[in-house]
Amino acid sequence: PAFRPVLLLTRRLPDAVEARAGRDYQAILNRDDRTLDGREIAALAGETEADAVLCCAGDRMDAAAIAALPQRVRILATFSVGTDHIDVEAARARGLTVTNTPDVLTDATADIALLLLLGAARRASEGERMIRDGSWTGWTPTQLMGTHVGGKRLGIVGMGRIGQAVAQRARAFGMAIHYSNRRRLPAELEEGATYHADPEAMLPVCDVLSLHFPSTAETRHWLNAARIERLPAGAILVNTARGSVVDDEAVIAALASGRLAAAGLDVFENEPNLHPGYRSLPNAFLLPHLGSATVETRNAMGFRALDNIDAVFSGRPAPDRVV
Ligand code: DGY
Repeated sequence: PAFRPVLLLTRRLPDAVEARAGRDYQAILNRDDRTLDGREIAALAGETEADAVLCCAGDRMDAAAIAALPQRVRILATFSVGTDHIDVEAARARGLTVTNTPDVLTDATADIALLLLLGAARRASEGERMIRDGSWTGWTPTQLMGTHVGGKRLGIVGMGRIGQAVAQRARAFGMAIHYSNRRRLPAELEEGATYHADPEAMLPVCDVLSLHFPSTAETRHWLNAARIERLPAGAILVNTARGSVVDDEAVIAALASGRLAAAGLDVFENEPNLHPGYRSLPNAFLLPHLGSATVETRNAMGFRALDNIDAVFSGRPAPDRVV
């Protein structure tokens, strides 16, 4: 019989993905979908004699967890584009291949950014709450007036795949696009957007600020009180990147004072234990990390992770190798 490597899946995955994993591998499923910490994942990989591990964004694979992974594990494929939950340097040091799932979630995540942008600007969650709690007494000319997004300036920090997809959508709503990125985009991709080499210098023109850069030690709490002060009064914040790139205390204070008019947030530091200050703010439009949560996208992410694992076991280079 052909060699079927043992593949440990740390979470339940869409049916089609688990079916393919079970066809091509001796797949070990997390049947009750329990959250496992990194050490438990490593221990389970040992017990099951896993050759590969498919993990997710919530799984903290820190240096200790990587060190505890049995030597026979050849690849750690994450079902995410973000890799901030993995100590990639520790993986590199022990020769463990790490792969992610770029591209396939770009559109879904950009769609959620627009949902948050529009929802925050147009006070969607306040309106929905009114209907649900029975406090809506009918249309009035002054009820829940929000901010028009057309004609406003959208500042995008991090103009990678997702940032560009957000720009494309926001243009259709009549927004003027500004962006900051380590490198300026070639003219054909810029499509009239204004480049700012220094994100600090861009902040004063951001009626809406949308964050699209990875979480690293350097970007932790990047949006802090001082940077919020540089935004126009009444700016709107959108975050679909990682919660840790904003300083929650500063964002909550600015939403409470009205310095920020609203925020649309899909990601939080220490998910799912977000800062409790957000819950009582009417101008915070909050979603539980739904950026890539469509059936199509989650299937594609799973297949992409499996493509990478397939490559490693058939001696080809993994297409989405991070280290
Ligand atoms: C990602 O892909 O990084 C998402 O945040 C979750 O999978």
